[in-house]
Amino acid sequence: MRRKFIAGNWKMNHGPAATSEFFNKFTAELKEAGDVLEAAAKGTEEIALFVPAVSLLTAVNAAKGTPVIIGAENMHWEKSGAFTGETSGPMITEIGATHVLIGHSERRHIFRETDEELNKKVHAAIECGLVAVLCVGETLEEREGGKAFNVIKKQFAEGLKGIDGDTLARKMIIAYEPVWAIGTGKTASDADAEEVCGFIRRLAKESFCENTADELIILYGGSVKADNTRGIISQPDIDGVLVGGASLKADSFMQIIKNAL
Ligand code: 13P
Repeated sequence: MRRKFIAGNWKMNHGPAATSEFFNKFTAELKEAGDVLEAAAKGTEEIALFVPAVSLLTAVNAAKGTPVIIGAENMHWEKSGAFTGETSGPMITEIGATHVLIGHSERRHIFRETDEELNKKVHAAIECGLVAVLCVGETLEEREGGKAFNVIKKQFAEGLKGIDGDTLARKMIIAYEPVWAIGTGKTASDADAEEVCGFIRRLAKESFCENTADELIILYGGSVKADNTRGIISQPDIDGVLVGGASLKADSFMQIIKNAL
């Protein structure tokens, strides 16, 4: 049985003050949520928040004593050096964060990050002990042009170049986020999301082996809300969700976590 992984991605929202405010409410709600705490203790459901670099320290401190995992939203592949404005993997681990998002569609499309650069980031993350959440997904134009599966296949193959099956299954997570469903209110139907997540699992089997495919955690992201979580999470190849807007408020994120149990 694969564990569930319920994650929020705050994007460029919530500086340190708003982060403290969120955690004050969220940890109070968590204390009352016995079923969530039990699932986290048993390891059947993991809860994570990916927060802006400037809020990582506040989030790590606020999450102490709770099962909440804290991750960064991006990193550079070099450990240090003349890369003004960037954050390295060792800087993220020094703060106490354990996970990192790599290749979110906003990084790919707004900041023009390439598969080659993302592959370097994946290697750098794993080398410094971070769990790398590699995001893949097609644009509306690519979907309507019948290219969705080819796009996912390329992002998967190039992002994972040089990574072995054990590393993929144990130190990585794949998140499928169709670009057309992000921040638009248009969720992929449960069947659409399952079709692509199932395809990703088959890619893992063909590129690595059956065990890797069976163990790999695959998430869906794109307009996930409390009321569509149950349908998405009950799909056989979807193990969790990556939530944008609905993770910014403690009560709506908590409701998603509960609905995913
Ligand atoms: P929304 O949930 O706001 O659509 O964002 C999804 C996303 O990009 C999470 O990484």
